[in-house]
Amino acid sequence: MSKLVERLKKKEAKMAVIGLGYVGLPIALAFARKLKVVGFDINQQRVDMMRRSEDPSDELPKEAFQGADIHFTADINDLRDVQFFIVAVPTPIDQQNIPDLTPLLGATRTVGQVLKKGDLVVYESTVYPGCTEEDCVPLLEELSGLKFIKDFKVGYSPERINPGDKEHTLENIVKVTSGCDAESAEDVAQVYELVVKAGVHRAASIKVAEAAKIIENTQRDVNIALTNELSIIFNRMGINTYDVLEAAGTKWNFLKFKPGLVGGHCIGVDPYYLVYKAKELGYHAQIIDSGRFVNDSMGGYVAKQTVKKIIAAGTNPADARILVMGATFKEDVTDIRNSKVADVVKELQSFSCHVDVTDPHADAAEVKHEYGYDLVKAAKGPYDAVIVAVNHKEYAGHDEAWFKGMLNEKGVLVDLKGTYRNKVQQLGYWSL
Ligand SMILES: NC(=O)c1ccc[n+]([C@@H]2O[C@H](COP(=O)([O-])OP(=O)(O)OC[C@H]3O[C@@H](n4cnc5c(N)ncnc54)[C@H](O)[C@@H]3O)[C@@H](O)[C@H]2O)c1
Repeated sequence: MSKLVERLKKKEAKMAVIGLGYVGLPIALAFARKLKVVGFDINQQRVDMMRRSEDPSDELPKEAFQGADIHFTADINDLRDVQFFIVAVPTPIDQQNIPDLTPLLGATRTVGQVLKKGDLVVYESTVYPGCTEEDCVPLLEELSGLKFIKDFKVGYSPERINPGDKEHTLENIVKVTSGCDAESAEDVAQVYELVVKAGVHRAASIKVAEAAKIIENTQRDVNIALTNELSIIFNRMGINTYDVLEAAGTKWNFLKFKPGLVGGHCIGVDPYYLVYKAKELGYHAQIIDSGRFVNDSMGGYVAKQTVKKIIAAGTNPADARILVMGATFKEDVTDIRNSKVADVVKELQSFSCHVDVTDPHADAAEVKHEYGYDLVKAAKGPYDAVIVAVNHKEYAGHDEAWFKGMLNEKGVLVDLKGTYRNKVQQLGYWSL
C-alpha cells in the first residue's frame, strides 16, 4: 500500500469531494465512514442543508449522514490540507449541444489553487476521452505552478449510479478506476476499494476509463433511438411496438430496449461529448448523431400524434384540453432537468391546445422556472387526451375506469410506455 493510501486510512491525510450533487454526496458520505472527508460545494445553500443532514437532491435519508466524519464547506481554505481530491461536478451541454466545461474547469481552478506536492486528483464527472489530461491537467499545472506526474498526479473513475435506483448503489456496482501512471492507478483503485464492496476494475489508462463511461450511455442512447425509430415505422403499419418487442424478446439474444423520451443529464447528454470529440479528430459520428436526432425528436412526435387523434375525433386542437401526467425526466425521481416532457408540452401548445401537467414528484416552482408552465395540483376532466408521459409508481394502479373518468367520450389515452395496453378495451388508445 502506498504512503498516501496508508495516511488516508490513518486519517493523517484528508480527502475532499468537490461538487456534492447526485454523485458527489453519496461518495463523500461513503468515504466519510472510513476516512476524514471535506465536502466542498460552491452552493452555500446546499452546504447549509447538508450541515443539517439534508440531501438537497432528495435521494438520501437523514440516517445516511449519521456517523460520517465529514465537514461540509463552501470555503476554499478548508481544502488547503487535503491530499486526495475527487471532482464530481456537472458536465452539461450548451444550447448548441456542445460540451460546457464551465463547472468542471471551475472546480479544477479551485483544486489548482490549493494543490500541493504529492496530491492526487480524481475526476468522476462524465467527460470525453482526453478531457482529464488535455483540459484539466494544464489548468492544474498553471494555477499550482506544479509539474504533472513529478509533483502531482491525476486519476479518473466514472460514476455509474442511476438516479432513483436503490438497487444499483455505489457500494454494490463494480467501479472503473484509472491513474496517470502505475502508482496512481493503484492508489485510486485501493482508495475506491475501501467503499465499493463489489470491487473495482483497473482500466488500462485514464482515456480508457473516460471512454468506457461515455460508451455505456452512448450504447443505451443509440439502442433506444433504434427502438424509437421502429416505433415510428410500426405506427405507420398499424401494429403496436410493445407487442412486437414482446414477441421478438423471446429470442435469446434480442436486446430489450423500449421506446420513449430520453431526457435527464446523462443518456441524453453524454453522447454529445463523444460526437464533439470525434468531430475534433476529423470524424463525423453519424450513428451516434442520428440516435441523438431521433431521441431528441420524440417529444414533438408524441405531441403531433396526439393532435392527429384529437382532430380525428372531430375536435379542433385550439379547443382541446390535454392532461400530461409526469413532468420529471424519468419515473419516480424529482429531477426535472432536461425532461423531454417539456418538448411534448411545448409542441402541444404550438397547436394552441390547452395543456394541464401534473406530477406527484416534481417541484412546481422549479418546473415554472425551468419550463415556464404551472403544475396542476388536481387534474379535472373531461380531457380530449391524457398522455401518461412518465411511469411514476403512483400511476401503476390506474385502470380503464380511471382514465374514462378523466376523458370525454371520444378522448384518447396516450400511453408512452405501453403500461395500460392490456387493460384498455373501449377507450381510444395509442402508445409508442
Ligand atoms: N446523476 C447521476 O446519476 C450521474 C450518474 C453518473 C455520472 N454522472 C456524472 O457525474 C457528474 C456530476 O453529476 P451530478 O448529477 O452529481 O450533478 P448535480 O448537478 O447533481 O450536482 C453537482 C453539484 O456540484 C456543485 N458545483 C457546480 N459547480 C461547482 C464548482 N465549480 N465547484 C464546486 N461545486 C460545484 C453544484 O452546486 C451541485 O451541488 C456529471 O458529470 C454527470 O454526468 C451523474
